Amino acid sequence: NPPIHSQEGTSVLMRENCRAKGGLPGFKVAILGAAGGIGQPLAMLMKMNPLVSVLHLYDVVNTPGVTSDISHMDTGAVVRGFLGKEQLEEALTGMDLVIIPAGVPRKPGMTRDDLFNINAGIVKTLCEGISKCCPKAIVNVISNPVNSTVPIAAEVFKKAGIYDPRRLLGVTMLDVVRANTFVAEVLGLDPREVNVPVVGGHAGVTILPLLSQVKPPCSFTAEETEYLTSRIQNGGTEVVEAKAGAGSATLSMAYAAVKFADACLRGLRGDAGVVECAFVSSQVTELPFFATRVRLGRKGVEEIFPLGPLNEYERSELVMCFNYFINFIIMHELPSISFI
Ligand code: NAD
Ligand code: LMR
Repeated sequence: NPPIHSQEGTSVLMRENCRAKGGLPGFKVAILGAAGGIGQPLAMLMKMNPLVSVLHLYDVVNTPGVTSDISHMDTGAVVRGFLGKEQLEEALTGMDLVIIPAGVPRKPGMTRDDLFNINAGIVKTLCEGISKCCPKAIVNVISNPVNSTVPIAAEVFKKAGIYDPRRLLGVTMLDVVRANTFVAEVLGLDPREVNVPVVGGHAGVTILPLLSQVKPPCSFTAEETEYLTSRIQNGGTEVVEAKAGAGSATLSMAYAAVKFADACLRGLRGDAGVVECAFVSSQVTELPFFATRVRLGRKGVEEIFPLGPLNEYERSELVMCFNYFINFIIMHELPSISFI
């Protein structure tokens, strides 16, 4: 089947040839769930990214309109749209990076774990397509609950015999973006100057900002630490409540997803020193998946950094984070492999 909408031209061939000859890289990126609340602004921002030469937009609804709209932007990437399961394989073939924001968002009163049943199935199907059509792609999982959808993706890839833990990353960048913003507010700094490592996972107490490791170095009172930790952990709920039933964070998430995808692409290009936080297969703790700072390179995650020195408050938060993960396994009677 031909792609339903495209903005073909000589530019894509030129960019692809350029890449093949070792010239400027242009990467092929697919967004799965591209017509959604996150998907649309994410698609727009990726179309603006000079590292992207080809942008594939896949969804089960509305991709013709979104693709037609975005394809009129006068930036370099060629955009193609794909609609419905029968076009999934075509959407994925040859991709270097696949970003997955497909799935349902929560409503007030729900936790991210309440999305598990429906979103796990969606992510599973999409990852089966990735296994078949672009097994070497870097995969960025946004669909919630990230603490569970990433291990599920890993199981699909293992079953297909293509699992490389370096290429599977849960996107926790929004926690870092929020932490930078809220910490900058307290310190009276420009958020662009602030960098807060956020480790653990992406739900409630598993979101663990390391305020003792903020750059530039600074200190907080006990009150500020409590306030900031709680605000960062509940940032998602803050947006869900403000949207009052109309979904969860979409615009700040699209921004965070593009920041993270850009880091992955710079790593693929071979840039040195690309370091971001992500939820990955990890031996930093006893848990099989854990978010920490990672160095991104040509193979995906090329180095996983240890937690670094934690203060007493952070050590007690880490215990709560562990308890959450372990209770989740017990409560759902899940096999250890696909639990969190
Ligand atoms: P949305 O409902 O606006 O959009 C989801 C899109 O996914 C829709 O267009 C829908 O058609 C599509 N979709 C559904 N099933 C699909 C399938 N099988 N294949 C392809 N596409 C499919 O939701 P949203 O606000 O964009 O949120 C999407 C997900 O991202 C939710 O699970 C949400 O909880 C999560 N999220 C994660 C973070 C994070 O920090 N990781 C932040 C915000 C939201
Ligand atoms: C977020 O942190 O905003 C997302 O995980 C969406 C949500 O449900 O909170």
